[in-house]
Amino acid sequence: MPKKFHLGWFTNFTPGDWNHPFAAGLPPWDGKFYVDFAQALERACFDYIMLEDTLMVSEAYGGTAEAALKHAILVPKHDPCPLAALIAAGTSRLGVVATMSTMAYPPFLLARLSATLDHIANGRFGWNIVTSGEDAAAQNFGMEKLPPRELRYEMADEYVDLVCRLFESWDADAVVQDRARGYYADHAKVRAIDFEGKYFKCRGPLNTVRSPQGRPAFVQAGGSPRGREFAARTADSIIATANGIEGMKGYRDDVRRRAAAAGRNPDDIKVLFLVYPMLGETREEALAKYDRMVSSPLFIEAALASVSTVTDIDFSQFDLDKPLPKLTTNGEQGSLDKFAQWGSGKTLRQLAMERFSAGVDLIGTPDEVADRMGELMEAVGGDGFLISTPFQRVSRRVIAEITEGLIPALQRRGLTRTHYAETTLRKTLTEF
Ligand SMILES: Cc1cc2nc3c(=O)[nH]c(=O)nc-3n(C[C@H](O)[C@H](O)[C@H](O)COP(=O)(O)O)c2cc1C
Repeated sequence: MPKKFHLGWFTNFTPGDWNHPFAAGLPPWDGKFYVDFAQALERACFDYIMLEDTLMVSEAYGGTAEAALKHAILVPKHDPCPLAALIAAGTSRLGVVATMSTMAYPPFLLARLSATLDHIANGRFGWNIVTSGEDAAAQNFGMEKLPPRELRYEMADEYVDLVCRLFESWDADAVVQDRARGYYADHAKVRAIDFEGKYFKCRGPLNTVRSPQGRPAFVQAGGSPRGREFAARTADSIIATANGIEGMKGYRDDVRRRAAAAGRNPDDIKVLFLVYPMLGETREEALAKYDRMVSSPLFIEAALASVSTVTDIDFSQFDLDKPLPKLTTNGEQGSLDKFAQWGSGKTLRQLAMERFSAGVDLIGTPDEVADRMGELMEAVGGDGFLISTPFQRVSRRVIAEITEGLIPALQRRGLTRTHYAETTLRKTLTEF
C-alpha cells in the first residue's frame, strides 16, 4: 500500500468566484455557503479547512485600492473566527483552522477566543499563527510601519509562550462539578501565570475552561529562515508554498531538520504544500480551462495585484516584458520567492501567468492529477497538500470537482483517507 498523505483546503471569507458563470447567486456573508463547503470537505475526509486572514485594504498595487477591490483580491474579507464557529457547528470531524495575527490580538483575548472555538469544535480547532506582513495592517493597529521580521518573530516567540501558559492555567481536571460539595471548579487547579516578558505582560489565569486539545492545533507558514525556525518549533502543521519537487523537498527537509534540532519529533509536523489542481473530463479540456484563465484580459493585473497585496511591493511599476530586478520584502518573503522564480530569466508576464502553477503540472483528469500527486508526494517524502483555487475563488462547481472527482481518485489509489479514525484535529494530523 502507498503511504497516505494529508489534505487541507486554503480559503478565506471572501465573495468567492463572484463573477463566474457557474457561481451566480453566491451569498457569502451569512456563512452558509462556507458551511456547505466544509461539509463537502468532511465527506472527502480532509484534515482541515484553513481560513486565511489579513487586516487591511491593500493599496500596494499602484498606490490605490482600485485593483484589490475591483478584483475582490483578499478584500472584502470577513472575520474568520465567527465563521469557524459556524463551520464547527455544522461538521463533526473536519479540522477548522482560523488565522489570527500576533500583531493584532492581545494574547489573553486570542487564548480565550481559541479555547472557546476549540470547545465549540470539540477539539477540532486550529490557530494559524501569523505575524502580519503589511504596513497597511500595522497602521490599523496604531503603528506607522510593520516591525521588521526578526522583531515580529521575536515577539511571536514570546507571544506563543504566553498563550501556551494561559492554556495551561487550567488543569485538565479543574472542572469537578461536585454537586454534593457545591463546587463547579476547583480553585486549586486554576492558577495565575504572572507572565512578564520583554513585550507582553499578563497575570492570568484564563477565565475559560481548558480546551479539549489542551491547546488548539498550531498551524504556521514561515517562509524565511526565521519564519521556518518559528514554524519548526511551534507548528503541528505547516502550510507552505514552494516551486517544484526540489523546492518542496528542500523546504520539508529543512523544517524537519530544524524541528529535530529543537528536540521535536519531525513526524509531529505535517507540511502541506499549496497546490492549485485544475480538472477537466479530459486533459485537453483542463488545459483549455487553464489557458482561458491565464489569457483573460484581467488575469495579469489580478495576479500582480495579489502578489503586491502580500508583499507590499508595487508590481505595477515593472515592465511586463522584462525580468524582475532582485527584490526583498518585510512581508511574505516566501510568497515573493515562489512567485519570482529568481534566476529563471522569465519575464514578469510569464511569472504572472505561472502564479498558480507551483512548478508542478496538476492539470488534467482526476485520475491523471491523482497519479501526479502520488508521485510528487513520494518524491517529496510526505506529508500532504493544501488545495486551493486561483485567488482562493471558490464555487460549488469547483468544490465538487475536487471533492467528488479528485479526492475519490486519490482514495481509490489508497493515497488519502476514506474515513476519520480520530476526533480531534491534532490526532487526525498524526493519525499517519
Ligand atoms: C499557504 C500560506 C498561507 C498564509 N496565510 C496567511 C494568512 O492568512 N495571513 C497572513 O497574514 N499571512 C499568511 N501567510 C504568510 C505567512 O504567515 C508568512 O508570513 C509567509 O509565509 C512568509 O514567511 P515569513 O514570515 O517567514 O517571511 C500565509 C503563507 C502561506 C504560504
